[in-house]
Amino acid sequence: MHFLRYLSSAFVAGLAAQTAALSIPGKPGLKVKPYKREVLQHIVTWDQHSIFVHGERVLFYSGEYHPFRLPVPGLWLDVFQKIRSLGYTGVSIYTDWALLEGKPGEFLAEGIFDLQPFFDAAKQAGIYILARPGPYINAEVSGGGFPGWLQRVPGVLRSLDPGYIAATELYVKSIGEIIAKNQITNDGPVILFQPENELYSCSDDIDPCPNPEYFQYVEDQFRNASIVVPYIVNDNNEGNFAPGQPVSVDIYGIDSYPLGFDCANPETWPENALQTDLTETHLNYSALTPFSFIEFQGGSFDPWGGWGFQQCLELVGYEFERVFYQVLIPRDDEH
Ligand SMILES: *[C@@H]1O[C@H](CO)[C@@H](O)[C@H](O)[C@H]1NC(C)=O
Ligand SMILES: *[C@@H]1O[C@H](CO)[C@@H](O)[C@H](O)[C@H]1NC(C)=O
Repeated sequence: MHFLRYLSSAFVAGLAAQTAALSIPGKPGLKVKPYKREVLQHIVTWDQHSIFVHGERVLFYSGEYHPFRLPVPGLWLDVFQKIRSLGYTGVSIYTDWALLEGKPGEFLAEGIFDLQPFFDAAKQAGIYILARPGPYINAEVSGGGFPGWLQRVPGVLRSLDPGYIAATELYVKSIGEIIAKNQITNDGPVILFQPENELYSCSDDIDPCPNPEYFQYVEDQFRNASIVVPYIVNDNNEGNFAPGQPVSVDIYGIDSYPLGFDCANPETWPENALQTDLTETHLNYSALTPFSFIEFQGGSFDPWGGWGFQQCLELVGYEFERVFYQVLIPRDDEH
C-alpha cells in the first residue's frame, strides 16, 4: 500500500531549542555520514533541531503545491503569496516526468510547463522550495509520473535494469539542471532536494527492497546535474537511507498517513492510529538531523466514483488535526 498524497508536507523541527546539550538515545555507535554537503555548499546547514539558511534557523513549514496541477503561470505568484501569508515558509513540489517527456527523447519544459516563472514567483513571495522530481513521484497522478511509453521499455522499473535507467537519463538530467539553476546557491528558492520518492514499497521483482544501489544511482544522477543542496528522504519510518546507512541522504524524513483514506466511513478512526513513538524512532534513526516529516496527512484523496471530498474532510478535518498534529512536535521529556 503506498498511496501518495498531495496535501501536506511538514518539515518540523525541534521547538525546544534552548537549553543544554542533548543526550542522544538510540543505536550505540550510530555513525553519521560526514557532512560532505558542506564542501558543496555552505548556505543550507542543519543541526539536530532544524535547518539553517545563511546561519539563521528556519522552521521549514510547508504544504504541497505542484505547478502542473495549476498550469496557469499568471496565478503562481498570487498562490505563493497566499501560502506565505498563512505563515508557511516553504512549499514542496513534485514535477511530472510524463508531462515533460511525452515522447521519448524529447524533453520540453515550455509554455505552461516552463518551471522558471514558478521558481521566480516562489522567490518573489519569500517561499523556500523542497524539490521532489522523482523520477517516480506517485502523487496520485497517472503512472506515478512515469510516461506511458515506459510500458514499452523492457526493464524492471525503479531498478538498475539498463533499459529503465537509460529511459530516465534525459528527464533526470534536464529537470535536475533546471532545479539546480534555481538552488539558493544560484540565488534561487530551492533549499532541499529529494531523490526518488517513497522507495520502500516495491514490486516482487525488486530484491532487496528498497534497493540501495538504485537509490545511490539516482542520487548520483542528480548530483551530476549539479544539485548541491541537502538531500532528504521520504520514508515509511523504517530508517531506510537514514544518515549512517551505507547509502544515505543528509536528512531523514518520515511519510505518514495515520488515518488512511476511508472516506466512506469518516467517523471511524482506525484503531491505534495515533503513533506516540515517533520522536523515539526519529532519535533512533537520525538523532543528529531535524525531526522531519516530508508528508504527514493533510487530507485524503478521493478516487473516481468515490465518496466526495466533503466526506474526506470529515475524516481528516479539524478534529483529526487537533489530535494528530501534536505528535509532530518533539516532546521535551524525550530530549
Ligand atoms: C556521474 O558523473 C561521473 C563523472 O562523470 C560518472 O563517472 C558517473 O557515471 C555519473 N553517474 C551517474 C549516475 O550518472
Ligand atoms: C529505539 O532503540 C532502542 C534501543 O535499540 C529500542 O529498544 C527501542 O525499541 C527503539 N524504539 C523504537 C520506537 O523503535
